[in-house]
Amino acid sequence: MFKPLKLKRTTLPNRIIRAATFENMADAEGIPTAKFAELYKKLATGGARCIITGFNHTSREGRAMQPFQAGIDDSRKIIGWQRVIDEVKSVQPETQLFIQISHTGRQTLQHVTRLPVKGAGSVKCTYFRQPVTPLSTDEVKEKVDEYIRAAKNAETAGFNGIQIHCAHGYLIHQFMSPFTNNRDDEYGDDRLLFLKQVVTGVKAAVKLPVFLKISAADDRQRGLNLPLVMSYWPVIDSLETDAIEISYGMMEVAFNIIRGEHPLDPVLKHNCLFNRYHPGLRWLFKHFVYHWYKRSFIDYCDLYNLENAVKIKAASKTPILVTGGIRKKSQIDYIINQRGIDGVTLSRPFVCEPDFVNRLAKGNGEVISGCTSCNLCTVMCDSRQPLRCYRGPAR
Ligand SMILES: Cc1cc2nc3c(=O)[nH]c(=O)nc-3n(C[C@H](O)[C@H](O)[C@H](O)COP(=O)(O)O)c2cc1C
Repeated sequence: MFKPLKLKRTTLPNRIIRAATFENMADAEGIPTAKFAELYKKLATGGARCIITGFNHTSREGRAMQPFQAGIDDSRKIIGWQRVIDEVKSVQPETQLFIQISHTGRQTLQHVTRLPVKGAGSVKCTYFRQPVTPLSTDEVKEKVDEYIRAAKNAETAGFNGIQIHCAHGYLIHQFMSPFTNNRDDEYGDDRLLFLKQVVTGVKAAVKLPVFLKISAADDRQRGLNLPLVMSYWPVIDSLETDAIEISYGMMEVAFNIIRGEHPLDPVLKHNCLFNRYHPGLRWLFKHFVYHWYKRSFIDYCDLYNLENAVKIKAASKTPILVTGGIRKKSQIDYIINQRGIDGVTLSRPFVCEPDFVNRLAKGNGEVISGCTSCNLCTVMCDSRQPLRCYRGPAR
């Protein structure tokens, strides 16, 4: 796990990567603040040598519903990110900072973006409950240009690499999935066309390494599932990106992306999809609807995306990373040395212990993350609070 990972356009100093983790640390316009530098400096001095930022919007229309999401769509954001990167590099020059770029598509709210919600198709997301207008064919081409512009801005800002977010139900996932892509133009005939145009456009525009993050399956009957993703793989592989991270799910059942506990009271208090309800309606949701809704939740288990990642790896020339429920040194060793996966990405363990990589490096024998997957950090993404651990490591 501490051996360098040689990729097409870069070499990572080790194979333990900080997965994209939404920070809620930009200002109201999406310009990153000094809080990002503080967080990444802690991770960098704690041994993380590759840090993927939380998702950054590629345009105002593609903003997430959370109040303080960062973006990379204009020059003020480039300057903001430059400051963050300079500070992190002054402390730990070897650390590679990758920016995750994303357009939310149907997974956002009109009152946040102040623009109509547009997606790959017209299917409403049951979580966001917003009417969705399908992007016109010309608008899809504009979206491709927005990803390319975002990548160029990231290069100008000084990032070491880019991760294109194709997972979790965001816009690229919406094009890939037959459940959300009900288009009747060329982007419906070829559900990978949007992805191909984004990736080839980004690769042609910047010299940076490019990672993808893909959900191997989601929770919709006609959505993404492993056989479909495997049938896509020859095309995805031929895009020759530097690494592909295997994840799961979409926001219809958000807790299946990030499994663990379901702290319902903080959801009802902080999530703007619920906290606008009359208290009586929230009571009804908690005592009746939730019990029905939670039947679609998949229980947490360690390494919950590993088996999908291993199957994809067997069909892939592109290096594969896996995320989800990685909590022990012995598990990382097993994933890399026995299952042949190229690297691991961890999110929640780094929220509660930014120095987790140093602990892994120094520990003789087993090292276990103190993260209990309580998911308070997850649900508090929807509050106005910056990312932090609410429980503290339970060792
Ligand atoms: C607080 C929080 C914020 C997250 N934000 C993002 C994000 O911005 N982009 C993304 O692709 N995944 C995001 N994730 C998912 C993680 O990258 C990761 O795939 C998932 O949490 C499973 O890994 P873990 O078990 O190590 O936490 C987030 C997870 C958490 C807990």
